[in-house]
Amino acid sequence: MTWWKKSVVYQIYPRSFADSDGDGMGDLRGIIDHLDHLAELGVDVLWLSPVYPSPQDDNGYDISDYQDIEPLFGDLATFDELLAGAHARNMKIIMDLVVNHSSDEHEWFLESRSGTDSPKRDWYWWRPARPGMEPGTPGAEPTNWGSVFGGPAWEYDEKTGEYYLHLFSKKQPDLNWENPEVRQAVYAMMRWWLDRGVDGFRMDVINMISKDVSLPDGRLNAGSAYADGSEAFIGGPRLHEFLQEMHREVFEGREGLLTVGEMPGVTVEEAILHTDPDRREVDMVFQFDHVWVDRGPDPWLLVPLQLTQLKAILGRWQAGLAGAGWNSLYWNNHDQPRVVSRYGDDSPAHRVASAKMLGTVLHLHRGTPYIYQGEELGMTNYPFADIDEFRDIEALGQYKQALELEGRTPEEVLKVLRARGRDNARTPMQWDDSPNAGFSTGTPWLPANPNHVEINAKAQRADPDSVFHWYRRLIELRRTEPAVAEGDFTMLLPNDERLYAFTRRLGGTELLVIGNFSGVEAHAGIDGWDGAELVLDNLDSPPEGLNLAPWQAVVYRRTV
Ligand code: GLC
Repeated sequence: MTWWKKSVVYQIYPRSFADSDGDGMGDLRGIIDHLDHLAELGVDVLWLSPVYPSPQDDNGYDISDYQDIEPLFGDLATFDELLAGAHARNMKIIMDLVVNHSSDEHEWFLESRSGTDSPKRDWYWWRPARPGMEPGTPGAEPTNWGSVFGGPAWEYDEKTGEYYLHLFSKKQPDLNWENPEVRQAVYAMMRWWLDRGVDGFRMDVINMISKDVSLPDGRLNAGSAYADGSEAFIGGPRLHEFLQEMHREVFEGREGLLTVGEMPGVTVEEAILHTDPDRREVDMVFQFDHVWVDRGPDPWLLVPLQLTQLKAILGRWQAGLAGAGWNSLYWNNHDQPRVVSRYGDDSPAHRVASAKMLGTVLHLHRGTPYIYQGEELGMTNYPFADIDEFRDIEALGQYKQALELEGRTPEEVLKVLRARGRDNARTPMQWDDSPNAGFSTGTPWLPANPNHVEINAKAQRADPDSVFHWYRRLIELRRTEPAVAEGDFTMLLPNDERLYAFTRRLGGTELLVIGNFSGVEAHAGIDGWDGAELVLDNLDSPPEGLNLAPWQAVVYRRTV
């Protein structure tokens, strides 16, 4: 079985992980200082969010030099030390590859912008104003698309009287993958990192690199200022071709690597094609269906989680990728609110139990689990009071658009940002109960959650009943029980709104997993498990007759 099918990946968001020099910003030295925490947890792979030089408009997802290290974070020598330190502890490192767009301060874009006859003009998407419209005036943009971070997806450039495309911020111009020189430059850069010793890539919004070159207008939804253009750039016409070319040019003949493509809006059918090993594209993808389940047609209305829907979605992904292909499994990353606050219960009475339950259900699915920093502590959302406390370009941009162009009130928008905003995931890692949670001796770029006095790594490492030690056990179980990594998956109780239940089976071993997603006792009507071995129980209180206490999670094993 391929090594990454048995592995657990841990995501580090470097600016929020650990600050070694007191400037309030996490750095590579800080990661090196905490490698033993990660080794103790038992993870196999570290994924670093971008550490390259960047104006930090989108916290490093706007890269101005792909082959160096952001000075705030360190330098290449420190990076090499980190890589060696991880390898010495049997952990691999994968890099974030952000090549749908670069920074507008990258030399490629500076050159491209310099004039219509620049040799790199065609490296980005330059277009004239809409025919008959005055360039630079509202509505004259080449298409009606909105950018993910608010405002139009096109920026007017006075110098040449043309617009460039930016699906994200205007400091993140989209690279033109139609141009073979762009692709070769990206592949050369990837090979350079692999030659340096890195173990693979997490590929940022990689299903947006191929666009419908006719750039058609998108559908305008009621109440929104700009159209959704995604039909023209999600899973575009040449995506499979580009990924296969990348595989040939970069990965062929190299062993031991891991590639995972972030693909918002990807379908199961497309994911099968992307992850079928025979097609040589990527090892797995990040799909979004299960984290968009609490999102309705109105982006500024909170929709409560419906467990039956979550199960239908994840069950569909499990069934779809059961043959060819492979799933990634995640609740959290730097773009999602904290799962214990979102799908669990972060109140003092239930936080620990619900964090353990969520981890159990996720890690027992078939696929490769990803842990986002602090998830192993059951870290929660931050109590944001006001828009001024957010730093995230997405939160600020969407807030502005909603208030200025879409007639929303600050209260309704804030309510959603508090629950869903990305900064919830980006507050400092909670190492101990000291000021700033042991993250920094300076002033952190985003304040530590006040609950770090209770929720922190130091306390949890010392407490065998902590979320930290529970995650260790989940990782350990994957190593000792082959059915966790390799077993078939069967969903049970699809119509139950409280219980998430499924089995895993490999040869003569069968596991039963049940998680109670509610604050009330719930009975699982599942027969045949009397006398089975109880392998895990997050409450240490074996349920009688499969009556699960609030937020309880259990795993049974039997021989069949
Ligand atoms: C991905 C990243 C996100 C970033 C965006 C643009 O979705 O995960 O953080 O803002 O791409 O690069």
